[in-house]
Amino acid sequence: MSLAHKISIFPEAAVVARELATEVADALEENPSLVLGLPTGRTPLLLYEELVRLAGTGRIDFSQATTFNLDEFLGIPASHPGSYRSFMQAHLFDHVNLDPQRIHFLNGAAANPFDECCRYEKAIDEAGGIDLLILGIGTNGHIGFNEPGSGLAARTHRVTLKPETRRSNAALFGNDPDAVPAEALSMGMGTILDAKAVVLVATGQRKAACVEQLVTGPITTQLPASFLQLHKNVEILLDAAAAARLQE
Ligand code: GLP
Repeated sequence: MSLAHKISIFPEAAVVARELATEVADALEENPSLVLGLPTGRTPLLLYEELVRLAGTGRIDFSQATTFNLDEFLGIPASHPGSYRSFMQAHLFDHVNLDPQRIHFLNGAAANPFDECCRYEKAIDEAGGIDLLILGIGTNGHIGFNEPGSGLAARTHRVTLKPETRRSNAALFGNDPDAVPAEALSMGMGTILDAKAVVLVATGQRKAACVEQLVTGPITTQLPASFLQLHKNVEILLDAAAAARLQE
């Protein structure tokens, strides 16, 4: 089975970021109260740089927008330098005119993680759902922190991270994979698939294999991103390196 959605390939990651930033700017122009879903990781860094630049020129206005991040480590507070919240503050939130009241994040230090996941699902519902969800992809095909396995959780939930995922997040924790929390909270596959529009971004040669599987392989819990094949409005933005294993 192949993914019938729109796939765009650009020569390099910086062009992908510019393209997506323009898409976000246009979406915000059309709907200033846009509800955005946001990822972390190295991939969106260039996007956030570009969004900050566009906000500086007045091309983007985030003042009425709402954001929900996909996931957060469990067992560390938002103020921890390795938290995804700290990452987002440093790379986007501190530099644009988002209303802090409309920035939503999973609390990795919540006393009751289950209640925290329910709270998050409710907050997404109350915001009217996510209009535009931007996703990266892990080298093992995970999206958010939905890891490959024999099953996938539908809604926001608590997850145990795979060793490769802890390794790829080690940069946030002094390059020590053992210092990366073993668990996290993440939107579930259903939460992701409920977004009205999804854009998945993958850049670099490390992503070529999972992109190939995502585009040409079957829907399988072993590659959580493959479930995007079920969504009606998915766009995949790639640089040439990530697209290297796709046929012309
Ligand atoms: C983390 C995040 C994902 C992200 C992935 C890829 O595990 N939870 O949302 O897509 O990393 O990260 P990178 O963009 O650094 O390859």
